[in-house]
Amino acid sequence: MEKSSKSGSRLDRLAAYAGPYRWLTYAALVMSAVSAALSVVPYYYIWRILDEVLAVYPDLESASGIVHNGWMALAFTVLSIAFYIAALMCSHKAAFRISKNIKKRALDHVLGLPPGAFDMIGSGKVRRTIVDSAEATHTYAAHQLPDLAGSVVLPIAIIVMLFFFDWRLGIACIIPIASSMAVMYTMMGNKALSEFMGIYQTALGDMNREAVEYVRGVSVVKTFQQSVHTFQRFKDAIMRYGKFASEYARWCRGRMVAFVVLCNLAFAFLILAAMAINGGIEAADPGFLSDFLFYVIFSPLVAILMMRIMYSSEDGYKVDDGLDRIDELLAMEQLPEPSEPRMPEDMTVRFENVTFSYPGTAAPVVDSLCLTMRPGTVTALVGPSGSGKSTVASLASRFWDPQGGSISIGGVDLREIGSANIARLESYVFQSNSLIKGTLLDNVRLGRPDATPEQVADALREARCDDIVAKMPDGLDTVIGPGGVYLSGGETQRVAIARAILKGSPIVILDEATAFADPENEHLVQQAFERLAENRTVLIIAHRLTTVRDADCICVVDGGRIRETGTHAELMKEDGEYRRMWDDYQRSLSWRVAGVAQ
Ligand SMILES: Nc1ncnc2c1ncn2[C@@H]1O[C@H](COP(=O)(O)OP(=O)(O)OP(=O)(O)O)[C@@H](O)[C@H]1O
Ligand SMILES: [Mg+2]
Repeated sequence: MEKSSKSGSRLDRLAAYAGPYRWLTYAALVMSAVSAALSVVPYYYIWRILDEVLAVYPDLESASGIVHNGWMALAFTVLSIAFYIAALMCSHKAAFRISKNIKKRALDHVLGLPPGAFDMIGSGKVRRTIVDSAEATHTYAAHQLPDLAGSVVLPIAIIVMLFFFDWRLGIACIIPIASSMAVMYTMMGNKALSEFMGIYQTALGDMNREAVEYVRGVSVVKTFQQSVHTFQRFKDAIMRYGKFASEYARWCRGRMVAFVVLCNLAFAFLILAAMAINGGIEAADPGFLSDFLFYVIFSPLVAILMMRIMYSSEDGYKVDDGLDRIDELLAMEQLPEPSEPRMPEDMTVRFENVTFSYPGTAAPVVDSLCLTMRPGTVTALVGPSGSGKSTVASLASRFWDPQGGSISIGGVDLREIGSANIARLESYVFQSNSLIKGTLLDNVRLGRPDATPEQVADALREARCDDIVAKMPDGLDTVIGPGGVYLSGGETQRVAIARAILKGSPIVILDEATAFADPENEHLVQQAFERLAENRTVLIIAHRLTTVRDADCICVVDGGRIRETGTHAELMKEDGEYRRMWDDYQRSLSWRVAGVAQ
């Protein structure tokens, strides 16, 4: 049955999460076992009533023990129920702790993961792992675990009862019960099943994730007039899930039928046995008849109890799988944090021979890169798409630790400064997705949670957001983003810049949005940025070369390396890659002008 070494370790794993409340889990197991043992006692008293009725029949008046035995049957039933309720109370208390602690441990760990890791795993998957695992363990620890204890004790109590009255009838009942248990063991104790359940859960997870991706991408698909078949991955995930689901059903079909039939066969066996013992029911004496009646009442109950045992063991695999997934999450490496974080004095950011590749990929995205950004200057990164510019920006904010070389502020390595201090020193305006769902006030105030609405309004003004504020129906309290007022790419970046201005950190990293629709917006972003850049250490990743023309230092990045460095004038003189980019850019501008003039 289910009490394999694995279920033992499952109990240990759950109890570990229950912490000091683990005794409640064990108390629930004991009380549920007691309840199971008590639950068969009333049948003994019912048998005594039957026995007496048959003995005195038809003179029922002379039966003296019926009332007493009736009360005893009721008392044991109530007692059994009371123990079960107490068991459930304990198991629920423990189960709440267990699911709470699983969530807490997992979230604590997740918070320490490199921020870059979320883009890679998908924050949806992290959420699903934590919520689903906690939920599965809760249901299991609250309900199924106590039932499991009952399901170990109950067969023993049943066997005792079956042999107590008439061993021959007992054997007649035991044969189908034992066979049904054997069938159940081949179903539940099967190693292949637990592996199968793992694959099944993965298929289910994949399908859910692809569904989210599908909904996200619907607008793109519609724009390009593509059919649903573009989402081959989503379709594949559904097909894979469907395949596993039907394989599982097919696998269970025969066994399930055998189990149910055997469970309910006890009754037929009883009649055959009674006829064999007495040479026909009519020939039986009253003593045998009362015993037989007991078995007639008791045997259907056995079938019901067996079903309960089966279902109590079914979800164990979900729990194992959930706990495994949590363990996987907990095994992901966190960013090491210094025991004594240091705060640098000087705000010079320096990359020295930095080499970095994303986890799971071999080729470095940043390759022996050296770069120095001084306070009060603007350093610009330009280069083709995919050359590694955003990666350099994320490394400067310690979204990842590099595999080689060192990144430092004021000569102190980022790993010694620690993530919390880095977050204090730096503002990062992302290439996209800079806003959270909430009001304009909330969004800007992320930069400094204790800022007053007046300070927020000032920051918005400095970031040239007057036109945005003007169109907000509820002013600063208007919800922006999905479900609220829509902001364009350029407007979004200006709000993000206002947030950085409010924060006032000495280091600013700006990953420019790829394209703005109108030159007016572009001009405003440029002005907002100039205001933000004053007297700070600034790294800007620029897509329009006019933005970087005035930068103190322009670095041309290609293939994760810096190919050219200098001011605009110096690089133009050098007649290299930058010069070529600039000429291309000018030509594209003149096309635009020509296009407008036509
Ligand atoms: N999370 C990630 N996991 C794996 N590879 C990544 C990840 N993010 C980026 N890359 C890869 O790293 C390379 C550099 O990407 P990056 O975003 O730094 O380019 P970029 O220069 O900012 O491009 P763009 O100008 O288009 O914004 C690309 O080849 C990209 O595919
Ligand atoms: Mg980029």
